[in-house]
Amino acid sequence: MMQDKEQEKGIAAMAACYQTFDPAAYLQYNYTPPRADFVRKDSIVPWKLACLHRAFTEGDVSGDLLLDIGSGPTLYQVLSGCEVFNRVLMTDFLEVNRAELRRWLQDAGGCSLDWTPYLQHVCKLEGRRPSAWTEKATRLRRVIADVLPVDVHCSQPVAPDALPPAGADCLVSCFCLESVSPDLPAFTRALGNIRKLLRPDGHLMLIGALGESYYFGGPGLRIPVVPLDEAQVCASLKETGFTLIRLEVYNLPSDMRVGVDDVTGVFFAKAKRD
Ligand SMILES: C[S@@+](CC[C@H](N)C(=O)[O-])C[C@H]1O[C@@H](n2cnc3c(N)ncnc32)[C@H](O)[C@@H]1O
Repeated sequence: MMQDKEQEKGIAAMAACYQTFDPAAYLQYNYTPPRADFVRKDSIVPWKLACLHRAFTEGDVSGDLLLDIGSGPTLYQVLSGCEVFNRVLMTDFLEVNRAELRRWLQDAGGCSLDWTPYLQHVCKLEGRRPSAWTEKATRLRRVIADVLPVDVHCSQPVAPDALPPAGADCLVSCFCLESVSPDLPAFTRALGNIRKLLRPDGHLMLIGALGESYYFGGPGLRIPVVPLDEAQVCASLKETGFTLIRLEVYNLPSDMRVGVDDVTGVFFAKAKRD
């Protein structure tokens, strides 16, 4: 009982932290050079895009619905998957982030980041000419069916009628679970909660921070993060009923440490629901 109360308090404290999250600042900190430098192979964003490209084009991932958990204000994580699935659902806990995504979807201007270099880069990975980015943008706007609220700490993280009864065919989630959980047990429980949204044998693409204890979600907004190592990621996946297909690790070069967090690395896990 006492333990439940403590858990609830930890989760409520995390939710309170997010109330002043600033999507434009977050995008600026993490999705512009040096972290998103497309001429550098060792830049963090091209690394993530390459992992996602490979994972979605190996031939083992297919189905109708791709669900992105904790999308934030970003689109990069569905740029490869949108070519494989007919429908994509984006989700976030905060209305400010859902609004940022809707602005891009409606193509009416006012976006905090220009996603063109991202679209061009993924076109290149797919062997298309960079100018095909407009076709990719059109496809993305067509296949993203909705931007929904989500709470990974709930046993039912999205509204029950949002998904087909069997669940989504594939989940992607990037930098969400460790940065919204007060501790490792909460991270693992959240992983178990999102697993329920995935059909049996469906794939999970999980990207996250290694060794991170905080990040800035806006000027002066220091958000605590569960510092993870590779063994803990693998153990949490196993405990919640996933079979790991591949774990890839990126170590942050010193010039990517730009004072917006204390992350030391990034993991990419491709796994399958048992
Ligand atoms: C570090 S950001 C990651 C955003 C994006 N996926 C990316 O790759 O940059 C963490 C996201 O989790 C969202 N979030 C906060 N609390 C959450 C919760 N309880 N359930 C799901 N998402 C939550 C935040 O609004 C934020 O967009």
